[in-house]
Amino acid sequence: TCQLDKWAKAAGLKYFGTAVDNPALNNQGYMKIARDTDEFGSITPANGQKWSNTESSQGRFSYGSGDAIANIAKQTGQLLRCHTLVWYNQLPGWVSSSYSKDQMQRIIATHIQNVAGHYKGQCYAWDVVNEAVEDDGKMRQNPMYKAMGIDYITHSFKIAAQTDPTAKLYYNDFNIERCCNAKINATYDMIKTVKAAGARIDGIGMQGHSRVGKSPSKKELKDTMAKFSQVVDELAYTEIDIRHLKLPASAADNQQQAKDYLEVVGACLEAPKCVGITVWDFTDQYSWIPGQYSGEGEACLWDRSYNKKPAYSSIVSLL
Ligand code: XIL
Repeated sequence: TCQLDKWAKAAGLKYFGTAVDNPALNNQGYMKIARDTDEFGSITPANGQKWSNTESSQGRFSYGSGDAIANIAKQTGQLLRCHTLVWYNQLPGWVSSSYSKDQMQRIIATHIQNVAGHYKGQCYAWDVVNEAVEDDGKMRQNPMYKAMGIDYITHSFKIAAQTDPTAKLYYNDFNIERCCNAKINATYDMIKTVKAAGARIDGIGMQGHSRVGKSPSKKELKDTMAKFSQVVDELAYTEIDIRHLKLPASAADNQQQAKDYLEVVGACLEAPKCVGITVWDFTDQYSWIPGQYSGEGEACLWDRSYNKKPAYSSIVSLL
């Protein structure tokens, strides 16, 4: 097998997916690959479903950007991983820290009922809450937490479950890949607490943004998944990219990158609850990395001219 999703399904996963962002939609070369169901069995809107895009002012909902990507999945039959309902980042300014617990509870409920309601039945999974824990294991002091404490997470998952009962509900975060750090332990505890309070959490999404040569090993990844498997039914790598720290990458650097990708993919294959892998875009042309980490990049499986890199071939030769 020589294409990613075909390969992933043959290997026992549910999908191999990619993020897609709106600026790429008018690029025909890009779209040919993004819509190729042998390459990608799942797509995720990179930005369109976030709070700042769906409810930039209170009570006024807009779905154009998210729909443009959801519609691809409708046409191709690809799964849609929906991303994300409650996150401190790309949060519109009006969701500020000045609300009471009751007010925030209503704000979150209205947001989720509308957005998850709009996409009801279309999402294989929803990243209901994103990035709620800090690296040191403390809860992130975002406006939702300030108003409600950890109850905001329980509340968000309960409303999501009521609104779209068939979507798998995920908690999603970064730096929870490599076993075991304070953030992983705190995430594990948080999931247990929220479930004990009566909410359904089906899965944990591990983003997996990492750096060539410093990326977690298969063993470290599997140890984390063994721990998380105690508290959820599904695990997934949701935003994989492995960036070079020095550009342009040499041939040797790209071989190392291929090894690093293989560790992640191998870990998912060997973890019984790992259902799939999503890359946070598949071509360096649209990767968010250079915009976020100045001087770093070339983190994807295809280069900016749409040549497949060694990391691509290493994945499809795993079988
Ligand atoms: C990123 C997008 O790719 C960028 O286009 C945007 O400017 C910022 O957000 N963790 C997440 C994703 O959960 O939503 C982020 O996506 C990358 C980090």
